[in-house]
Order: sequence, then structure tokens, then C-alpha cells
Amino acid sequence: MNENLLAEIGLDKKMDESRQGEAFYSPVINPNAGSRKFYIESYGCAMNFNDSEIVASILHSSGFRATGNSEEADLILINTCSIREKAELTVRKRLTEFRKQKRSKPEMLVGILGCMAERLKSKLLEEEKLVDMVVGPDAYRDLPFLIETADGGQKAVNVLLSRDETYADINPVRLDSNGVSAFISITRGCDNMCSFCVVPFTRGRERSRDPHSIVNEAQELFDSGYREVTLLGQNVDSYLWFGGGLKKEFDKATDEQKKNAVNFANLLELVARVHPDLRIRFSTSHPKDITDEVLQTIARFENICDHIHLPVQSGSSSVLERMNRTYDREWYLNRVDAIKTIIPDCGISADIISGFCGETEEEHQETLSIMEIVRFDFAYMFTYSERPGTLAEKKYQDDVPDEMKQKRLHEIITLERIHSHDSNRLDVGKTYKVLVERSSTKSKDEMCGRNSQNKMVVFANRNCKPGDYVNVKITSCTSGTLLGEIL
Ligand code: 5AD
Ligand code: SF4
Repeated sequence: MNENLLAEIGLDKKMDESRQGEAFYSPVINPNAGSRKFYIESYGCAMNFNDSEIVASILHSSGFRATGNSEEADLILINTCSIREKAELTVRKRLTEFRKQKRSKPEMLVGILGCMAERLKSKLLEEEKLVDMVVGPDAYRDLPFLIETADGGQKAVNVLLSRDETYADINPVRLDSNGVSAFISITRGCDNMCSFCVVPFTRGRERSRDPHSIVNEAQELFDSGYREVTLLGQNVDSYLWFGGGLKKEFDKATDEQKKNAVNFANLLELVARVHPDLRIRFSTSHPKDITDEVLQTIARFENICDHIHLPVQSGSSSVLERMNRTYDREWYLNRVDAIKTIIPDCGISADIISGFCGETEEEHQETLSIMEIVRFDFAYMFTYSERPGTLAEKKYQDDVPDEMKQKRLHEIITLERIHSHDSNRLDVGKTYKVLVERSSTKSKDEMCGRNSQNKMVVFANRNCKPGDYVNVKITSCTSGTLLGEIL
């Protein structure tokens, strides 16, 4: 990274210097705002929730006001996920409910956004007549026009994927926010082509967002009281800014562009230097791309959290090969060793899939054995769900019977619980700096927040409020939570 970039962004100066007034688009609230109300429901990953905040910003600017009650909405939007079949079935059920609501309120519009919109395109309008609008993840700027079209009684569709859309200039309207932590998208799309995954088809080619706009967004959030940002991308480690364009076009960049390029380690540093009291998290990392430079940057900055979500998917090299993950078991374990050496207290979590095409009992045992070696602090665990159009659907048989997928998943979950409980037990007696998020769900007299390793900590309230940092001594734990006392 060119040192000039720091100067250009203002990060070579005092860290907490106000950057108010810099070019950064904030939604202009239309004077007629309030005349029509929109309700938005989001499914799937954090990226989708952040996209809904971008959509809210675009709608605010064109005169809509948000409501949390679908009954009073003039426009219902459902931001969808296609990653597993179950996610799509849930959305279909919701759309059927909204269709009933529309019978008594025909002027109300229903729109489908996100990955399912992109995957099914106008099929949702023609075959099923479930919705009035179909809007893919790169077409949200077109929403005001699409709403106008649908208002005129025509079906409105835009599912064009873009080469350069990153919504960099749009200041998201924070929905359901605790006022403490917020998401910032840093890349869109994915170039990886894991064989089980529908994302490269629904979210298009990978592109990175201008680092200036990322730093500005982090600064604005800090200035308005936020204390934690999570940098989001399908594969954050492959973030690369060289003036715009698709990631795969980097080879064609000029020498000047290459010299000034900003990689993920550089970006982490830029955001970390916004303010020492702003915590930085990021998701999701890819084992093939996470570099020692990134790990060293995490180790260097106290405010970059010591937690890495590093999906393993399977512990078997032959399954990883069929999954087209482009790393093997040894490579993954080498990356885990590097994490443990460079950031000794780092929390590591993972995604794991059971019952991928052709998975033998032996291969499943290798997943259990890699779990025994790494001892993940946490994991998201799934059975394989075949997705139409993916490489796996074309190339392999989805031949592990459902009961077997479930049985293996159960074994994976049981082992993961043991590991997370053991990991929590080792924390008893330690003291952690915790960012207070909210009251605990169980009692108003208790507060909760996370430590740097992303573990939830619950403790009795002693005059602290969301956004405060407190030191908590851990006194006991469950498999999912640490319990402690403020020092
Ligand atoms: N079936 C099951 N799980 C999947 N994932 C992605 N695609 C599928 C699928 N077809 C999981 C992966 C990924 C996480 C976001 O979802 O583990 O890391
Ligand atoms: Fe899907 Fe793989 Fe891209 Fe993740 S990295 S979004 S699993 S293709």
C-alpha cells in the first residue's frame, strides 16, 4: 500500500480528527417521507442484513418511511437467501402469507430482493404470481423506478449483475441496531466457485469497495456512538482495491495502480486507525487466502478483535477437492498453526458441512478428527443441500441418504458442544475487556457483551450502558456463554 493513501484519507494525522463534511452520501430524507411505509424482512447472512440497510437508505431518499409492522405497510420487501433449500422454503411460506394480506389491500406492493430473486428471476412473477417486483442484489438503486413501474400495474424486474456496484456512496440506515455494532460491506460477489455454493451465481463476480468510503463509514459510525464494526465480504481476505473493477482484472492494472493497491491487511490497518476505541471484526475469511500479513496486522492492533471465522467445510482432503475449496487438510491445519503462533489467544470458529456428495464414513471421521485437532470455539454446522445450477449439482450425485447426513451432523454438533464448553471452562478465572451491547435476555439486572474472541459474556449490571468497555472476571460458564463480574 502506498503510504500516501494514509495521508490522503487523513489517517496520518490525529486519529480522532473529525472527518465531518467529507464527501460521503447521506440519505436526503424526502420532505414527503411518511406518506408511504415500507416493511423489510431479511433472511440469511449478515451481508443480506446490511443490504437491507442500503435498501432502507434508498427508500428513505425516495419518500418512504420504515415500519416494523407488516400490517400497516404499503410496500413489503423480503430480502432472501438461497444458500440452502430450507431458506428458500421459509421465504415461500412468508410470500404466501403476504399474498393473503394483499387480497384485502390490493394497492400494497410485495417485492422479493436478494439471492432468491437473482436465482429465480422472473419465474417468481410468471409461474407463481407471488410478487410484484423482483430485484437482484446489484439492482437496489433501481428500486424507486421499479416501484413506480409496479404502481402502474406492470411487473417490475431487475436482476442485472454488475461489474462495479458496491453501493460505496450510500450511507446505510441502521435497522434493528443496538447503536453499538454495525456492519460495513467491503466486497461484493465471490469468484471462488466452491462446488456446493450458489453465491457466485446469485451475487456475481467479486469486486472491492473503495477504502476511502469504508474508512469514512467507520468514522461516521464512531462519531455517532458506535464502538464496533464488522467488515463483511464473502471472502474478505481477497479484498483488493486498485481503483475499481473486478478482482480478476488486477493483472491488467497499470504499475501505478498496482503500487497504490490496498489489500485486506492494509484495509484492516486503515479502519483500526480510525480510533483505538472502535473494535474491528471481519467475516468471512477463506483458508486459501488468509495471509500471515493479515494475522500480523491483527496482532499489532489491540482494537482488531482476536477472532477468525475460518470455514473448514470438511476435514477430508478428498471431500475438499470435490468441494473445489482449493486447499487440503494440511493447508488448513497450517493456517490454524499460523493463527495460534501469531495471535496466541485468537478465537477460531468454522462452518462445517456434513454429507457432501460421495462422503464416506472414513471421510466423515476425518472431519471429526480435524475438529479434535483444532478444537473450534464455535461452529455453524449444516447438512449438505443440493442447489440447482451449482458445480456439484452438475458433476456429482447427492448420494448420502438424509438419515446419514443427519446422523453425521449430530456427531459433529455433539463434538462441537464439548469443544466450546471446554474452551469456555479454560476462560474461568481470566479477565476480559468486554464491549457492553445490551441487557441480557434473561434479566434486566444483567448486561451482556462480547470479548475480543467473540464469546458472549453475561454479568451483573453496575451502572454500565451499551457502548461502554468493562473488565469482566469470568467466574463460570455454559457451553455457549461466559458468566462473570465487573472488576
Ligand atoms: N449446503 C449446505 N451448506 C452450505 N453452505 C453453503 N452452501 C451450502 C449448501 N449447498 C454453508 C457453507 C458456507 C456457509 C455460509 O453455508 O458452510 O460456509
Ligand atoms: Fe460460496 Fe465458497 Fe464463495 Fe463462500 S467462498 S460464498 S462458500 S463460493
